[in-house]
Amino acid sequence: MEAFVNVDERLGRVHGQHMDDRRRHVIESLRWQVDNTSDPVTAAVLRAAAEDAERGGPTWDRLAPHAELPPGAAIALRLAGAAHRLALAGEAPEYAAHLPTCGGDGDTKAAAKAFVALMDDDRLDLRPVQTNEPRRTAPLAAAFHVVHQRTGLPLRLLELGASAGLLLRFDDYAYELGSTVAGNASSAVRIRVDLDGPTPAVGPTPVVARRGCDPNPLDPASPEDRLLLLSFVWAGEVERFRTVEAAIDAAAADPAPVDRADAAAWLADHLAPASGTTTVVFHSIVQQYLSPATRSGVNAAITDAATRATADAPLAHITFEPGEGRAETRLTLWPGGEEHLVAVSGFHGSPLDWRGYR
Ligand SMILES: C[S@@+](CC[C@H](N)C(=O)[O-])C[C@H]1O[C@@H](n2cnc3c(N)ncnc32)[C@H](O)[C@@H]1O
Repeated sequence: MEAFVNVDERLGRVHGQHMDDRRRHVIESLRWQVDNTSDPVTAAVLRAAAEDAERGGPTWDRLAPHAELPPGAAIALRLAGAAHRLALAGEAPEYAAHLPTCGGDGDTKAAAKAFVALMDDDRLDLRPVQTNEPRRTAPLAAAFHVVHQRTGLPLRLLELGASAGLLLRFDDYAYELGSTVAGNASSAVRIRVDLDGPTPAVGPTPVVARRGCDPNPLDPASPEDRLLLLSFVWAGEVERFRTVEAAIDAAAADPAPVDRADAAAWLADHLAPASGTTTVVFHSIVQQYLSPATRSGVNAAITDAATRATADAPLAHITFEPGEGRAETRLTLWPGGEEHLVAVSGFHGSPLDWRGYR
């Protein structure tokens, strides 16, 4: 907030007038993202964009039509993703030359200069942010395993906001948890996670059915959808980028079904507990995108199904959602219905502090 007041005062002095509220909102969004990005390349390009917008440069012209978007729409990530997409597609070679994900040199100053130079380019397409982060399966796989151990039954997985379905395929992946390798050790998809606590067990967990929903499901076999997903991985995070690439490739060969649907309506249709299996509803970094009506529809469907859960047809709800500055994985199992905080982690799943079902 301080920085924002100073920016306003400086511009007021320069132009002798109050800065337009819309521009202030955009600059604030860019600067917030700079402070909340672990990747130095993304931080550098967004800092340069904020400075350019302050000067009233081309970044402001590019962002002005999107200035009314709410903070949750992450205008900074839309902009970074749009430029990254052009670079990955070979359509912005001067920018790609400095991006590690494109084989570039990682020179943050040069990347920032090339990024601002792109702002005049009408091919920049500020599409809504859509990610699918396979590393989040580390705490989720451990939570699924707890559910299986406690119920003794195979799982039927229902994912809300499944994107390209990469998390639904958790049992296809190898888990490198500190110095331990678990899961499908020969998998091309390596989920490498630093540990802040004990090593969790991530399987074996039998799964008899898996299905997800998303208003905009992405097809891992489609080159456009692949490019879209990869463009929202930060351009300096090569290892993460390679993991997402490997997970998309594996899903293209054997996709998990994802229905085009809003979470509430879809869940009401799919949720009835089934004898001989544990029904597991889960979601990761989805709650903030749901309308109040969808949220209450999801809650109502789970509350209703919970009343019908039995030892032979149990129900679990697992959430990987923001907590105090980190992501929290919470598990509730019915019959019973007590919520357990089973893990705390980074927003992409690492580092992972496994707390267990206590
Ligand atoms: C940040 S992404 C997370 C994707 C995935 N869960 C993950 O962790 O990698 C949020 C997802 O929620 C989806 N979403 C937005 N509104 C939704 C709704 N009403 N019902 C279900 N999913 C929704 C988006 O399309 C997007 O795929």
